[in-house]
Amino acid sequence: MDPRTFADEVPTLMIRITVLGLGHVGLPTAVGLAELGWRVLGTDQDAAKIASLQQGRAPFYEPGLQELLSKHLQSGRFVPIADSSAAIRAANVLFVCVGTPQRASGEPDLSQVETVARTIARNLEGYKLIVEKSTVPVITAQWIKKTIERYAKTPTGASLPPSPVRAAPVLSEAEGSASERAAKPIRAATHGEPGQAVRERAVLGEGSEAAQGNPATTPGLEFDVASNPEFLQEGKALHNFFHPDRIVCGVESERAWEILRAVYEPLHCPILRTDLNTAELIKHAANAFLATKISFINLVADLCERVGADVTKVVEGIGRDPRIGMGFLRPGIGFGGYCLPKDLRAFVRLAETQGVDFALLKEVERINQQRAELFLKKVRQALWVLSGKIIGVLGLAFKPNTDDIREAPSIPIVESLLAEGANLQLYDPRAMPNMQQRFPEQEGKLRYCSSPDEAARGAHALLILTEWEEFRKLDLSRLREQMEVPILLDGRNLYDPASVRAAGFEYISVGR
Ligand code: UGA
Repeated sequence: MDPRTFADEVPTLMIRITVLGLGHVGLPTAVGLAELGWRVLGTDQDAAKIASLQQGRAPFYEPGLQELLSKHLQSGRFVPIADSSAAIRAANVLFVCVGTPQRASGEPDLSQVETVARTIARNLEGYKLIVEKSTVPVITAQWIKKTIERYAKTPTGASLPPSPVRAAPVLSEAEGSASERAAKPIRAATHGEPGQAVRERAVLGEGSEAAQGNPATTPGLEFDVASNPEFLQEGKALHNFFHPDRIVCGVESERAWEILRAVYEPLHCPILRTDLNTAELIKHAANAFLATKISFINLVADLCERVGADVTKVVEGIGRDPRIGMGFLRPGIGFGGYCLPKDLRAFVRLAETQGVDFALLKEVERINQQRAELFLKKVRQALWVLSGKIIGVLGLAFKPNTDDIREAPSIPIVESLLAEGANLQLYDPRAMPNMQQRFPEQEGKLRYCSSPDEAARGAHALLILTEWEEFRKLDLSRLREQMEVPILLDGRNLYDPASVRAAGFEYISVGR
């Protein structure tokens, strides 16, 4: 894809984008959109983050992010600014990517979303499309709409009566089925010069419901809310952005639909059109299903261990059936991160509030919570007494190619090993600064190392907790020579058991 071709034909003044919230979703989205040719402003409540971005520094590690950030700060297509009101006023398409952290109940805390909606309400000048990208429960888009109506002023200065929050209307038959719409090439409705025509018509309102006297929003206020959930994976976020399997757009008006199609047109990807609630539900259902696959295969792995079967062969044997698929069937120490665990709980809570007992997903979570403890049992079985033993740990991030340790399985494992008196030597290619904040160095108890070799030195066992590519390439014989006792406990099935054993290790992995 040549990102410039689109940019060059674009009257960029037509669509001006602001991304609100520059975290793991917002920042890759913002620089990705800039790479597609759009002019993008980015804003965040964290002033220090904006300052660091303005100086050209990405606030977290994500492959390719630093390079793309530098490129578009220089091209001027991405501009981080601290003043969110100004950033909102300057744009007509607003991507809401703020955080939705978890509350004690398991429900997401939507206060950042509400704050953004109120700020948008105070800064509505002309038509705006508000695109919800944060992972949120169903009906949040309706709440954003209601909040904007409630806090916005009409041109006469009076607040508008809010519309009731209700389920999104079902799309009319005339618009075709979701699959028919998805199958259409995204340029099908542009009639003429691809890209430009649709962009002009979309933003100017020509040919849209609004221009035909059929406004999609409350009279007097010009805005639409759309739900455009993201499916980016940390560690692959930019790859996912530029090569999406699908893009989901929940919309309530032709104008919103055409704008989103125009924004994503350069990606040449199937776009699924839905209503707002459906789009929101798709996101939660996707993450819940992925989590279910992982917990399923983890139990199969446990069974394999009992009966002496090999889970990797089982995965191949079932995964080659396209109805099952190979993806997300890697057994190990469980899923972590900021999304899968949190979204699973939020989905269960949502189901509960709607009177649906999603017991299946509660079980998925319960199985996942046992994974770290099961792994620790293997460590105890292998080492007998933990107190005073030196244990090397390779991998702390919740997955490779990120420095993120949120809900990482490494956290309960490190915590327990420390509590049981082991001396830890930790190494991770990226996540050590974050882990240090959680577990500072302790003389004679916990030490951060500059290489896998250093983590293995003098160790009575080496644990693999994250499947970093660089660990796959380790010289196992050299590693073994560093160790006091060559025991390798692999929580991610990184190696072929025969070759590790041939290198002189006692090797314990998962489900084989
Ligand atoms: C997840 C989803 O995969 C994305 O599609 C989604 O956009 C994102 O959440 C989100 O909601 O923002 P992410 O949390 O970045 O992405 O990471 P995943 O690749 O899903 O991995 C999650 C955890 O599952 C990791 O700890 C990983 O090690 C574990 N995992 C994954 C397994 O244990 N086995 C597998 O087969 C796959």
